[in-house]
Amino acid sequence: MSNPILKVTDLKVHFPVAGSAFGKKQVVKAVDGLNFEIMPGETFGLVGESGCGKSTTGRAIVKIYTPTAGKVEFDGEDITKIKGKELSEFRKNVQMIFQDPYASLNPRMTVGEIIREPMDIHNIFSTKEERENRVRELLEIVGLKPDHIRRYPHEFSGGQRQRIGIARTLALNPKFVVCDEPISALDVSIQAQVINLLENIQEKMGISYLFIAHDLSMVKHISDRIGVMYLGNMVEIGEADDVYNSPLHPYTQALLSAVPIPDPKVARQKKRIVLEGELPSPIDPPSGCVFRTRCPNATERCAKEKPQAVKVGNRSVACFLYE
Ligand SMILES: Nc1ncnc2c1ncn2[C@@H]1O[C@H](COP(=O)(O)OP(=O)(O)OP(=O)(O)O)[C@@H](O)[C@H]1O
Ligand SMILES: [Mg+2]
Repeated sequence: MSNPILKVTDLKVHFPVAGSAFGKKQVVKAVDGLNFEIMPGETFGLVGESGCGKSTTGRAIVKIYTPTAGKVEFDGEDITKIKGKELSEFRKNVQMIFQDPYASLNPRMTVGEIIREPMDIHNIFSTKEERENRVRELLEIVGLKPDHIRRYPHEFSGGQRQRIGIARTLALNPKFVVCDEPISALDVSIQAQVINLLENIQEKMGISYLFIAHDLSMVKHISDRIGVMYLGNMVEIGEADDVYNSPLHPYTQALLSAVPIPDPKVARQKKRIVLEGELPSPIDPPSGCVFRTRCPNATERCAKEKPQAVKVGNRSVACFLYE
């Protein structure tokens, strides 16, 4: 078996926030102890409700955020403290696609300049002409036209802008790309096209993806494995079909019961699990298991101890029900 391209160990990202009236320092525990691995060429889907820490995880991996604790290893190397040449090499290999294709492209640059910029920064190719040729090649790969090179982002639709963003992401031949909800800002009619494009690129270039999304049913189709997050914690990891068809963690079960089913007959038979209570604040998460305040199976022990991830077949579940 090959080694993971990415290994995340006990990752924590806490943000300090303005203190309370009593001057006590407070922190948002956005990510609070994650463990997972991604294999070369694999797509790992990361799902969970808004605010559970998905983007923060992605941003810590690409080194936009510095972890408060824990380790991120890329290709066997701990990247949390790298500098200089190693950091520059890492930046070439690991890229991120952002949710909002409008905000992530500089409106004053031409499409050609936007896609070429990473090559300029990293001194790829010796002449500008070679870089422009590569830009044309990239435009073709993402389904845009070579003469789009002189145009500006505002002249394009949302879907086309996301293609420009993807071309820029690919400019340095990355090995690993974090896709942070890359289609949720797009029209439903073009979402599938962008997904297909990302899949084709992966096949051709052998890239690994961390694919962040809200929608479990969408992630299921493109992911090999799925990780489910709740309040900064990973509650379940498994093969996409297993997680989707037979969720183990009570939170995954609730999340899936909220997915609409197109067939009304099947939908009527399905039991909906409605989560009770409010989503707790990551500033003051519940003791023990963070899900216990909304869990239908919670016991006294869940308030006292934090469940560690246990293996159930090839699944990993952080819940005392499966010990
Ligand atoms: N830079 C920051 N400073 C302070 N708090 C932050 C910062 N970034 C994120 N947070 C907080 O951390 C938590 C996790 O945020 P994050 O953006 O990672 O969630 P998410 O799962 O990506 O949500 P969404 O699905 O809405 O994009 C939230 O409570 C958020 O308010
Ligand atoms: Mg997010």
